[in-house]
Amino acid sequence: MKKLVALIIVFSVSINIAKSQNLLAIPDTISGTEFNLNIYDTSKVFYNGYTTNTFGINAAYLGPTLFLNKGDSVNMHVANELMDTTTIHWHGLHVSAMNDGGPHIVIPPSTIWNPSFKVRDHAAMYWYHPHLHMMTNMHATMGAAGLIIVRDSTEATLNLPRTYGIDDFPIVIQSKCFDANKQILVDNASDSVMMVNGTLNAYLPAPAQVVRLRVLNASSERVYNLGFQGNLAFSQIGSDGGLLNAPVSLTRLRLAPGERAEILIDLNGKEGQSINLMSYAAEFPSAIYGALQPGMGAGQTIPGYTANVLNGQNFNIMAFNVVAPTANPITTIPTTLVNNIVWPTGSANATKTLTFSPVTMGPTAIQGPFLINNTSFDMDVVNYTIPLNNIEIWTLNNQSPIAHPFHIHDIQFYLTEINGATPPANMQGRKDVVLVPAGQTVKFITKFETFCDSMATYMYHCHMLPHEDDGMMGHL
Ligand code: C2O
Ligand code: CU
Repeated sequence: MKKLVALIIVFSVSINIAKSQNLLAIPDTISGTEFNLNIYDTSKVFYNGYTTNTFGINAAYLGPTLFLNKGDSVNMHVANELMDTTTIHWHGLHVSAMNDGGPHIVIPPSTIWNPSFKVRDHAAMYWYHPHLHMMTNMHATMGAAGLIIVRDSTEATLNLPRTYGIDDFPIVIQSKCFDANKQILVDNASDSVMMVNGTLNAYLPAPAQVVRLRVLNASSERVYNLGFQGNLAFSQIGSDGGLLNAPVSLTRLRLAPGERAEILIDLNGKEGQSINLMSYAAEFPSAIYGALQPGMGAGQTIPGYTANVLNGQNFNIMAFNVVAPTANPITTIPTTLVNNIVWPTGSANATKTLTFSPVTMGPTAIQGPFLINNTSFDMDVVNYTIPLNNIEIWTLNNQSPIAHPFHIHDIQFYLTEINGATPPANMQGRKDVVLVPAGQTVKFITKFETFCDSMATYMYHCHMLPHEDDGMMGHL
């Protein structure tokens, strides 16, 4: 009898696992120099028996992955077939302000936007998403976003996995809120459903060798504390805008909205195992969206936050089911990668301090809106004018009760200080997003080069999309 009960339990558990797991979707790719993107109203079945309305780009949810080669001149053709105006921003790419797709570069319905630019970026993963003022969160949450993978000759010489969908996988992490009819709810702290590449409860058959994961946090607000089940160590090889000088071995990686990380996991000899990618959010300190306490004080919360089962918990993001190795597997992790050259701090021509604060103090401060230097975004007021080729040190000072992921267009920066200390090795590479913890300061150095325009501007903003839409943004 005992045996039978045990058998039934085992049987039902395995059925549950089989039922609850879906093969990870891998976005289609476009390569070459001509890229056609159609943004349109469509739908997708996330849950059996329910049709969920989405915004698609060439596909029902998430657009194709664009492969660009450094040095190529590319032509983009972005057709807006939505009923709404939108924009498409090439997050992380070093392009002119007119080509950047910020809130001023609108694509009205039934029109095509045709930016052309030279690819000047280092090999890394970037992404594209709408950036219409006050509508970014809605458009991105509905599914309008996609990846860009830049290749260059330096990366090509390294012994790294780079066969897309075989040993090199895009991992787009999003938390979502669905209503009772399985429609996507926007701007809601009940984002308790995890999806990867638009797949719920995803699993990926991954070969038993060194595998490369290009991870993007495309969530509107949630920060993840990534790690693998059993504390399996992994190596971070790249940050937002390029490879690191050398791989950094980690068991946890904090990834804020907009941030990317390239990691290698060594699955040699693990065939037959299933390893979960987790967010160890229970380990987060307070004042991060995703921690048990989103604010610094116990009284500070966001409506719906406490009831959300993901907050302050360790939860599963997806599973890697390890299968047989491929024909020519990469089996080792390189010891060195690229040589990042950071501008010396003494070379800076200017410094700026950007202070983040809530509009109202007190227990609701954490609900925003938030300001940068006491100013809310104004389409018509340019916040900074920067001379071409300026090297600048920016200090980001977060005087608000929640951590904000700060993002700037046009350039990549190097962190020089996090609250007075040297940044950890995995944060010393090229970045375009940095999480600024509550009550702390972060400094970076960058150079504003190649492009200047007295009419078109570049944005800088918080990449928690409701914060951005509510005005936590400026332009230069
Ligand atoms: Cu990912 Cu200004 O955006
Ligand atoms: Cu913010």
